[in-house]
Amino acid sequence: MKKIIDINNISHTFDDGYMGIKNISLSIFQGEFIILAGKNGSGKTTFLRHLNGLLLPDTGHLIVNGQDVKKHLVQTRRTIGMVFQDADTQIVGDTVFDEVAFGLENLKIKRSQINEKVTQVLEDLNLFHLKDRNPHSLSGGEKRKLTIAGILVMDPQVIVFDEPFSNLDYPGTIQVLTTIIDLNRSGHTIIIATHDVETVIYDATRIIIMEQGLIKEDGAPADIIRLLEFYGVKEPSTSKFGLGIQPWRK
Ligand SMILES: Nc1ncnc2c1ncn2[C@@H]1O[C@H](COP(=O)(O)OP(=O)(O)OP(=O)(O)O)[C@@H](O)[C@H]1O
Ligand SMILES: [Mg+2]
Repeated sequence: MKKIIDINNISHTFDDGYMGIKNISLSIFQGEFIILAGKNGSGKTTFLRHLNGLLLPDTGHLIVNGQDVKKHLVQTRRTIGMVFQDADTQIVGDTVFDEVAFGLENLKIKRSQINEKVTQVLEDLNLFHLKDRNPHSLSGGEKRKLTIAGILVMDPQVIVFDEPFSNLDYPGTIQVLTTIIDLNRSGHTIIIATHDVETVIYDATRIIIMEQGLIKEDGAPADIIRLLEFYGVKEPSTSKFGLGIQPWRK
């Protein structure tokens, strides 16, 4: 398997002196589907923000496709797309269509090509009927999907989701989950920080547990699942009832 991300002993201390992540080292390979779990405040978002250089480490190195993130921010951000929980802060366009087209326009791609790509992604995510709406007028779940569309249209190798299921209803959760699974099947590397381990564990290849800025566990879902509750993360009910890891989507 091809190594995409190599993280070597990174730490990050905030301005107030609080150490958000401590001595994290790990490698991420193409095609992995990783769940990042841990209690509130364990450092998941802080860690994820380092993956595309939104935060830089005080010590250590992050290498993406052989290049140091610090020195190759633009390239890193094309390789690693981030879908944050708070969609509103990411919205810049006046319409849903423009919002998704925005990243491509910055790359000076031909208009006809942009229209074709944006239309395809909007159709894939079942958002095309909303294309002329103001993004701020969308519901929370629609906004989440819009943010995903804006990332997918750029075709990143790795897609990072921070709490992708929060505030979504059941159909919304299924739609986002299906999108994520399809992306992984088509070769994308997926990293998801979530408290809803149950929703994604069936498709995951690896679970990493954080606590107080440290990586405490890192392994196959079947091995890590029993340790979740020790770290304050809800164990999937099928596992609790001795049924192992079952798909959440029926
Ligand atoms: N800018 C900041 N300055 C100081 N401390 C911060 C800053 N940002 C985050 N922290 C602290 O760092 C710790 C880790 O925060 P982080 O957002 O990474 O946690 P998390 O695991 O994503 O939690 P959640 O599950 O609630 O999303 C928390 O204690 C948080 O208060
Ligand atoms: Mg977080």
